[in-house]
Amino acid sequence: MIDERKPVAFGDLRGWMKALDGAGELQKIDAEVDWNIELGTIARLAQGAGTGPALLFSNIRDYGANARCRQVFTGGLSSTRRVAMMLGLKPDTHPRELVKLGRSVLTGSVPPNIVKTGPVKENVVLGDDIDLYEFPVPQWNRVDGGRYILTYGGVVTKDPGTGTMNVGVYRGMVGGKNQIPILMWRAQHIGHHATAWQQQGHKEMPIAVAIGWEPSLDFVGGSPVPKGICEYDVVGAIRGQPVDLVKCETVDLLVPASAEIVIEGYLGLDPETFLMEGPFAEFTGYVAGDASPKNSIRVTCITHRKDPILRGTIEGSLPGSYSENGMCSSIMRAATAWNVLDRAGVPDVTDVWCPPVQTGVNTLVQIKQSYRGQAKQVANALWGSSAAHVRYKHVTVVDDDIDIHDYGAVDWAIAYRVNAGENDIVIMPDTFGAGLDPSTRRRDRNVTQFGTGKWNRVLIDATINLDYDPDPGLGGARFPPTVWPAQDDIDAAKARWRELGLDKTKRE
Ligand SMILES: Cc1cc2nc3c(=O)[nH]c(=O)nc-3n(C[C@H](O)[C@H](O)[C@H](O)COP(=O)(O)O)c2cc1C
Repeated sequence: MIDERKPVAFGDLRGWMKALDGAGELQKIDAEVDWNIELGTIARLAQGAGTGPALLFSNIRDYGANARCRQVFTGGLSSTRRVAMMLGLKPDTHPRELVKLGRSVLTGSVPPNIVKTGPVKENVVLGDDIDLYEFPVPQWNRVDGGRYILTYGGVVTKDPGTGTMNVGVYRGMVGGKNQIPILMWRAQHIGHHATAWQQQGHKEMPIAVAIGWEPSLDFVGGSPVPKGICEYDVVGAIRGQPVDLVKCETVDLLVPASAEIVIEGYLGLDPETFLMEGPFAEFTGYVAGDASPKNSIRVTCITHRKDPILRGTIEGSLPGSYSENGMCSSIMRAATAWNVLDRAGVPDVTDVWCPPVQTGVNTLVQIKQSYRGQAKQVANALWGSSAAHVRYKHVTVVDDDIDIHDYGAVDWAIAYRVNAGENDIVIMPDTFGAGLDPSTRRRDRNVTQFGTGKWNRVLIDATINLDYDPDPGLGGARFPPTVWPAQDDIDAAKARWRELGLDKTKRE
């Protein structure tokens, strides 16, 4: 049973860093580190498989004492311990409980406060004084097309009809002193807004990016919050207090009053104004998204706190190094899938998990089967949902005796409960899907041409096949019993454990 969560309002990025420091979760790096490749390399190596600390770099080459910005913070959410802290739970809360909480946490709502001013207004930079190169933006990877200033900022836009704001995380590269080309898919909520502004005849859309605030903003910005719900309301619910927002200087948008840095401007909608962006080391763990012309932010103002801290993240999960996106996706994408299954009426889903190494592209679902074909219902429900756009390519369904947090258990079920000749492997060809997956041919990754990537999806039904006839020789069961001992035999053996000297070994 999950402990009751106690929502925490950390105040700002600095409050969050203080909490991390107190919990032994922050590594401060005072030695000089180069923004060019070295910082990103250290971040990727240090994060490990969800085991590394958050990092604060405070001595960055070319950004010494007199620089406008001298520090970079990363890795705040690259472990389940820190995700649990952000949600107001004990750091050792099991990821299964985080998924269960994730099911409701994105529907909470505490509306924001609008305040007159705040620390983010301590410095206001306008016009010719704007120079993005004054910030220690990392060249995160040697292979990246440039220095990525937007990796974990909350990108704020507004529906021109309803006025509802959206906050999402979208990557953006320094394209000049005051230009940031970004990766914006039309299927994302920012894309819906861009289309709406365009349909009203506008060639630009107001935009603001809040960089460096409490971790719930990053977490919610990168999660699939339903359309029409403002992420600020959800953030308020997670932290248990309204977010204090201030008006931007040059656009009609609101941003957290104690953000470290806010970049304001207009996103170009006319292809004539597009700038080259990419490639980038992407969430798949591969270099993805070739250089191509993209919508670009024309920066009209930067506001920032005294001695601001640039918040960024190294994207890309792969074996041995799990990104913040991978860690948060493992929880939120599993929680979203579970909700999709519930809404579709799939009965008795008992657990859902997306291991962080693959950011929710493979999904594990545990069910208590009561009728034939239930696993196929799971896959159909997931793939028919818009939440499957860039997730749930491969769905593995197991019975409720298989712990989906133990990949060995899942592997065993696949070995002995899957029979491809009995339709336990089902391919759903030619569906929508992520445009960044290198297993899709280059032509089919052309999002500009097709609006989406192309995925051939697979269900692995690793449940016991209820289409088999019950076996009278097995007392009506369809499968033989496993060799796991009966409980009485286990109890008798365990009673002798100490006598046999087995209590000193680690294995239980
Ligand atoms: C670190 C990180 C980087 C991301 N980069 C992009 C990106 O460049 N483009 C994009 O469309 N989505 C990107 N995403 C995914 C979106 O943030 C995510 O789909 C989110 O739900 C979008 O917000 P929306 O639901 O309001 O559209 C990224 C997510 C994270 C966590």
